[in-house]
Amino acid sequence: MKKAIRVAVTGAAGQIGYSLLPRMASGQVFGADQPVILQLIEIEPGMAALQGVALELQDGAFPLLEGIETTSDLHRGFDRITWALLIGSVPRKAGMERKDLLGINGKIFVGQGQAIESNAAAGVRILVVGNPCNTNCLIAMNNAPAIPRDRWFAMMRLDENRAKAQLAQKAGVPWREVSNMAIWGNHSNTQFPDFGNARIGGRPVPEVIPDRPWLEGEFIQTVQERGAAIIKARGSSSAFSAAHAAIETVRSLTTDTPPGDWHSVALCSDGSYRIAEGLICGFPVSSKDQKASIVPGLPHDDFARERIDKSVRELQEERAMVADLLPP
Ligand code: NAD
Ligand code: LMR
Repeated sequence: MKKAIRVAVTGAAGQIGYSLLPRMASGQVFGADQPVILQLIEIEPGMAALQGVALELQDGAFPLLEGIETTSDLHRGFDRITWALLIGSVPRKAGMERKDLLGINGKIFVGQGQAIESNAAAGVRILVVGNPCNTNCLIAMNNAPAIPRDRWFAMMRLDENRAKAQLAQKAGVPWREVSNMAIWGNHSNTQFPDFGNARIGGRPVPEVIPDRPWLEGEFIQTVQERGAAIIKARGSSSAFSAAHAAIETVRSLTTDTPPGDWHSVALCSDGSYRIAEGLICGFPVSSKDQKASIVPGLPHDDFARERIDKSVRELQEERAMVADLLPP
């Protein structure tokens, strides 16, 4: 058996946490031969519910689960971790955009970034799920300057999965036939699901679905607005699909990407594709030997470029909105 790794999950008593934790304890995230110690973090009002979650984790008698710690102390919670899943934050309500949460949630990520920097193991990687996830990740990363920037990620995988599902449904094929689905920009209603570079059964999407008005219109809008549609229908935001996307993100970052394909995740822009350096932006990413790289050289027509630029402008606006949370 390998040595256990320590994994921190914030907001562990929330909806996403409840779907995520049993799958993490059962080896679906880090592998069937990788024991884990779960370090579950909540704010004080969530601690009672978190104790209940911990009891249920115990009752699972998961062979790979070597320890469960519950805490509201960030230093304990992030002690020696190799992964942090930052989920804890307030979800939006109907009628709000995700960036409306910046004023409430943004400041959470200052202290969390600092505590991760002081306590985590060398090589820690961080996935931010709490919204608005790109800019929350930007805040945490900038408050942890000792942690290399290539260790910070924000979740775009739910958007990737939503886009794949819409394309598969339109083409009348199973979801597994859709590949190469890049989501550019912000996890918001400006994101650009890049149908032009996506494939169905190995063929370009516009060839398989020769319906440009649908691709440029209803398809993009459905993906961009899917989170809001779920909130309207369920009365609360997506939970198990979000947990599933978080699991797939970590798996895609820790295993090699199949040749020729890519996955979508937001990471720190290095200026690729003329996207301003330092933003946490959704890109097509390929992973190899635990390292994530932006897939180079994808072509974009004027329509695609305008959409990418619009989402990047929004990320720049969000960065300006949280300037007071970013150290000089
Ligand atoms: P939830 O309200 O069910 O749970 C959130 C939990 O976080 C609560 O238990 C709360 O006590 C805790 N929390 C709040 N502030 C905290 C802090 N400072 N430290 C630690 N814990 C804290 O919400 P949820 O449905 O689990 O969603 C969590 C977040 O994930 C929301 O911001 C939501 O918008 C976001 N989300 C993102 C995506 C994505 O694709 N990026 C998808 C779905 C949801
Ligand atoms: C989602 O995309 O479902 C989440 O980001 C929740 C939300 O606020 O839309």
